[in-house]
Amino acid sequence: MTSILLQASRLALRDFQSADLEAVHAYAKDERVVAHQEWGPNSLEQTRSFVESCAAEPSHLTRRSFNLAVVLADGRLIGGCLASLDAEGHAAEIGYSFNPRYWGQGYASEAVQCLLQFLWRDIGLRRVSAYCRPENAASIALLQRASFRLEGQLREHKLIRGHYRDSLVWGRLAGDGVLEDTAALSKFA
Ligand SMILES: CC(C)(COP(=O)(O)OP(=O)(O)OC[C@H]1O[C@@H](n2cnc3c(N)ncnc32)[C@H](O)[C@@H]1OP(=O)(O)O)[C@@H](O)C(=O)NCCC(=O)NCCS
Repeated sequence: MTSILLQASRLALRDFQSADLEAVHAYAKDERVVAHQEWGPNSLEQTRSFVESCAAEPSHLTRRSFNLAVVLADGRLIGGCLASLDAEGHAAEIGYSFNPRYWGQGYASEAVQCLLQFLWRDIGLRRVSAYCRPENAASIALLQRASFRLEGQLREHKLIRGHYRDSLVWGRLAGDGVLEDTAALSKFA
């Protein structure tokens, strides 16, 4: 059952469904997508396990993890966004991965803006953070476009394919910058 639908101008964010397996695996198995991440490249079984665990997330707003598929108006699934809330529900960490076929067109930026609107307005968060590797230029550019501020560098923060890697820490408060008007609507079943 789709319980969350966040509508932006060119795309929507919704809960994952079992039928998304093929479209998710198209990017989850891609070395370019996982180069700076701790997971992947996925086997089909790993992607199936991810999609099934997302699809099984509770359908209410009090859940702590929002793993959402990003889809175009014609239903094509082009990527995924995640917001993991802390125990108190004041802050969240976000992440995102997109199919390289859809890079460079502003879709990821639009999806993150839409997710931020949801986190401020519907969930009532004060702070959103993101971690990315210093080498991940596309992710850095996205975070800067979304008015995140660089807050520091964590040395040897993550173990990525056998090597300890630094992370940049980015933070955004609800009042930082101006959110683009993505005309986001939130619907909950
Ligand atoms: C990080 C990632 C999501 C960024 O994707 P992206 O395609 O670069 O980001 P966007 O969709 O916002 O596209 C931005 C580009 O589209 C252009 N663009 C075109 N139309 C646009 C629009 N309407 N709005 C905004 N940007 C637009 C921008 O100018 C920018 O181009 P540039 O890269 O030449 O400056 C992508 O690289 C990815 O999936 N990487 C692998 C996973 C990953 O590393 N995740 C992050 C872990 S920390």
